[in-house]
Parts: sequence; structure tokens; C-alpha cells
Amino acid sequence: MRPASRAERGRHLVAGGEAGLGRDTRFRLVRLRRQGTRAMAEGTGMSRFLGRSGIEVSDIGCGCWAIGGPTTMDGKADGWGDVDDGESMAALRRARELGVTFFDTADVYGAGHSEQVLGRALAGHRDEVVIATKFGYTFDTGQRAITGEDASPGYIRRACQASLRRLGTDRIDLYQLHIGDLPAAQAPEVIGVLDGLVADGLIRSYGWSTDDPQRAAVFAGGAHCAAIQHDLNVLADAPAMLAACDTLDVASINRTPLAMGLLTGKYGAASQLPADDVRAAQPWVRYFAGGRPAPQWLALIDAIRDVLTSGGRTLAQGALCWLRARSPRTLPIPGVRTVGQAEQNAAALRLDPLSAAEMAEIARLLGS
Ligand SMILES: NC(=O)c1ccc[n+]([C@@H]2O[C@H](COP(=O)([O-])OP(=O)(O)OC[C@H]3O[C@@H](n4cnc5c(N)ncnc54)[C@H](OP(=O)(O)O)[C@@H]3O)[C@@H](O)[C@H]2O)c1
Repeated sequence: MRPASRAERGRHLVAGGEAGLGRDTRFRLVRLRRQGTRAMAEGTGMSRFLGRSGIEVSDIGCGCWAIGGPTTMDGKADGWGDVDDGESMAALRRARELGVTFFDTADVYGAGHSEQVLGRALAGHRDEVVIATKFGYTFDTGQRAITGEDASPGYIRRACQASLRRLGTDRIDLYQLHIGDLPAAQAPEVIGVLDGLVADGLIRSYGWSTDDPQRAAVFAGGAHCAAIQHDLNVLADAPAMLAACDTLDVASINRTPLAMGLLTGKYGAASQLPADDVRAAQPWVRYFAGGRPAPQWLALIDAIRDVLTSGGRTLAQGALCWLRARSPRTLPIPGVRTVGQAEQNAAALRLDPLSAAEMAEIARLLGS
């Protein structure tokens, strides 16, 4: 699909993206259009649009996996250990106060708990924020365990209603298929169900959390597909997926933007995470092995630390500003557990994206 022209993008704004928006939000969109959407669509401001949906979001969002608390998969930890719900809610509220408007969760995080905490934290501010959640993994709330996957039409409709209840809202702004490797042949049926949910006013747009550009292309054929969520950070670029997002005119939502905490600089060779942390328990985690930072990633961070932290940025802020500079479509969603983390990550909204010279220097240092 060719990229939408600016005029086409404007028509999407008027026609497709505003169902369910509050009056203030609609006025804000009109004002933004008058100011000129181009600067924001190109990422020079603090806001971006979710692909062709017309949904406006802050340049940096907030990830809500860790705040779900303990969960298991195949008997191993798939959460980030114990959480303090009071601290989680304070962190989410602080992020919103500081200008973060995009919050990403999933029904399965904490077996429903993350959605409940997010809903409570954002209560009273629904029209000011954009909520993304995911479906596709089944879970047992009592056991807090992930039990399997299901992308059948009936299950998707039930999952959507359950997420709406837990989030305490009447609409989901971005509803994402969570099963990254679902066969592409099943995608058209899923798209059909999601289009039905849009028609019913229960969701405003949809996307797929997948690292496969070909699957992304299939999903982007859906009329209301706004985003693809995929792994991306300064240590692990994804040029093929970014090119696909450009061609398909969808947002690139970046999970693991801080390499699951490694790109904050607080974990060194001697660090050991506890057994109830996904980073210690699951074999597919890239940046940690058995809860210890993997040495090859630490070496890469050492190589680029000075560039990322120049100008007074923290390492985490440097990593987020790299993502903001990488493409006008990127939308990093750093996960947060504390108010301090939320403040530091949100402060990156007020910093400039990395300069072209800094991006080139990092590419040279990483040999990419
Ligand atoms: N398949 C999928 O769809 C999928 C998969 C993964 C993630 N996601 C989404 O993407 C989001 C982000 O990915 P992620 O949470 O895995 O990894 P991440 O954002 O790279 O790392 C988040 C972790 O880093 C630490 N941290 C964050 N900000 C910090 C700061 N300023 N200073 C120090 N430490 C900080 C926190 O953990 P500690 O304090 O414990 O170190 C936090 O939980 C998730 O929350 C989720 O919404 C989706």
C-alpha cells in the first residue's frame, strides 16, 4: 500500500479517527490541524499520530507489563515480581501529569491486574489519554497463570468486553493481537472481528504485536489498522519493520525500548535478578541470561554510553531520544514500576531527539 498523502491523512482524521472522542479532545484535534499536523506527523513536536487513525499520542508512551505483578507461564515467572499497586498508580498518574498520553497494557499482564490498575490510575482523565491493550492469550485469574492462546471470533469479543470492564472504560483506543506468530492465514478472520468491534464503537483502531513485517502487511490491509508493536531499541534495530510501517502508514510502537531495564545503566556484570522476575525465569529473554545481564549487551552499552548521555541525558533518556530520532513513526513505551522511573522517562519528552550526527556516531560505534 502506498503511503497516504497529507490530504488523505486529513480525510482519515475527519472521517475515521474521532468516534468516541470527548468534546475537548475533538476541539484539540481541530486546533492541532489548524496549527498544521505536518510537524507533528514528522515527529518534530511532542506528539505523533497513530498511523492513519488520527489518534494523537505523546512522543513517548508508558508500558504496563511490570505493574501487573506476578504471573506464570509453564510454571515459570512471566511477570516482574512483586509490585506495590499504590506506587504503580502513582507512577502512571505522574506520567500523565508530565505529558504522557499513551498507555500500553494487555489483558494477560498480571492475569488482568495491569488493566485494573491502569483503569483506576486514569479514572477521571479518560478523554486525555489513549489506551492500548491486547488480546489473544488465555489466563487463569485465580492462579495468575497464562494458560494458552485463542484468536477465535467468539473469544475476541468476550476478551474485549472483559478488558473494557477491567479498564473501567467504554472504548479501547488501540486493540492489539498479542499472538506474534499467529499464522497470517488466520489474520483476515481476526480483522473481520475487529472491524465489527470498531463498528460497535467498542474499539477505535487495532494493531498486531509482531516482529514479522509480512504479518504486519497483512494486518495493515484492515481499514482501521493503526499500529504494529515490535521490539526496537538502540541495541536492536529493526530496519525491515520500520520500512514496512512507513509503507503501510502505521505507527511503530516500540516494546523493550530500554532492553528490559539494561539500557538504564543500573545493571552491571555482578547483578542478579530474583527468580520471580521474568528476566531470570524465561529462556527467550534476550538481554539477561538466568537473571544476569548478558555480557555482549553490556559491552555494546559501554561503547555508546558517552553519546547517549551527552548533553546531560540519563542513559535511559538517551535510549528514548534515539528511538524518537530513528523514525517519525516510532512510539517507545518504556515500562515503569516507580514514580522516579516515570518522571525520568517522561522528562525525555522535553529533550531533543538525538541529532543526525549522534545517530551516525552510534551506528558507527555499533558497526551497523
Ligand atoms: N509481546 C508484547 O506485546 C510485548 C512484549 C514486551 C513488552 N511489551 C510492552 O512494552 C512495554 C515495554 O517493554 P518492557 O517493559 O518489557 O521493557 P523496557 O521498557 O525496555 O524496560 C522496562 C523496565 O526497565 C526498568 N526501568 C524503566 N524506566 C527506568 C528508569 N528510568 N530508570 C531505571 N529503570 C527503569 C523497570 O524495571 P526494573 O526497575 O525492574 O529494572 C521497567 O519495568 C511493556 O511494559 C509492555 O507494555 C509488549
